Amino acid sequence: MAIVDSFHILADSIFYVCSEHRRQIIDVVTIIGAWYAFRFAVDVGYHTVTHISAVIRRPRNFVKDYGRWAIVTGCTSGIGQQFSYQLADRGLNIVLIARNDILCNEQARFIEKRYGVRTLVIIHDFNTTKLDNYSQISKELDHLDVGVLINNAGVHYDFPMEFSKVPLERVSAINQVNMAGLVMLTRYVLPLMIARRRGLIVNVSSGSGWKPFSLISLYSASKAFTSHFTSSLASEVKPHNISVQTLEPMYVSTRMTSFSSTLSSMNPDARTYVKNAIKALGRSSTTTAYYSHTIQMLVIKWCPDWIVRNFSCRLQKYLGDEGSRSKVKME
Ligand SMILES: NC(=O)c1ccc[n+]([C@@H]2O[C@H](COP(=O)([O-])OP(=O)(O)OC[C@H]3O[C@@H](n4cnc5c(N)ncnc54)[C@H](OP(=O)(O)O)[C@@H]3O)[C@@H](O)[C@H]2O)c1
Repeated sequence: MAIVDSFHILADSIFYVCSEHRRQIIDVVTIIGAWYAFRFAVDVGYHTVTHISAVIRRPRNFVKDYGRWAIVTGCTSGIGQQFSYQLADRGLNIVLIARNDILCNEQARFIEKRYGVRTLVIIHDFNTTKLDNYSQISKELDHLDVGVLINNAGVHYDFPMEFSKVPLERVSAINQVNMAGLVMLTRYVLPLMIARRRGLIVNVSSGSGWKPFSLISLYSASKAFTSHFTSSLASEVKPHNISVQTLEPMYVSTRMTSFSSTLSSMNPDARTYVKNAIKALGRSSTTTAYYSHTIQMLVIKWCPDWIVRNFSCRLQKYLGDEGSRSKVKME
């Protein structure tokens, strides 16, 4: 009873203060609202200008700006495969790093024949904790003029599900490939770039790292890690004339999203996505590189957390159900 009484007293006093200072309160609320509107307008303006300038500016000369060779990890499928083709099309020699020997060598032959550039195949499984494997890569890269590193290799769940149901091998693979592998390769390549005083490192993160997403919790956290690591590193290596950029796509139709026909039909394919991404490479510290993804990013960033969490939870639940149905059909 005492609590209710004191609540009434509190409410009465708040009401009294509010009615006494109505004018000042309206002023403060207006200033806060105007500040948010201003920040929102600046954010929208910045991203619009970044996209427009990526489209209208002269294409970057990657060889001249950064060096003769580009490394692409996870190059045998989806976004990585398209990066290897489209960077070769810009005249860069390509180091292909993946774990599938046959696919990787076939792709190297195709690139050399089609684009007339050189390739180097390095077979490497990022799902490893062995340091020796990385020093082997480093030896192979030592003599090359490495200008661009695309850290693209990545692993996801088969489809959204509760963390407790994700197979242990997949949990380990996400830790090793999405985070440790990216960090280790960056650590080995950076000194080569620093020695030449130029270079571009592009870390492929994801829109799922912008906020916590349930039912893909580890994947989402691994991408938040990538974005955070990349931003921290960017200012550190700037004095060496090296750019470090985070690429944060939303959904792209690739093998990774093939569990859902909804995602596959509604989103750009890897070729279209990378065509846009190539124009944005080295132009800003962080980008989705695709305008409709930027609109989604702005909505996610500016909506209150509880709305985003609620919506994303329902979306991932829907996608998870779709994924488990398609898995049952395939079995
Ligand atoms: N698709 C999307 O909607 C989306 C959205 C945001 C971000 N991304 C990110 O974009 C990147 C590329 O994804 P994607 O959609 O192109 O997927 P994808 O088609 O499944 O390709 C993934 C690539 O990573 C390689 N890889 C996986 N595990 C590896 C390992 N242990 N060692 C070496 N290579 C390994 C795969 O090689 P194998 O063929 O040998 O498996 C494949 O080449 C990932 O980092 C992903 O997280 C994707």
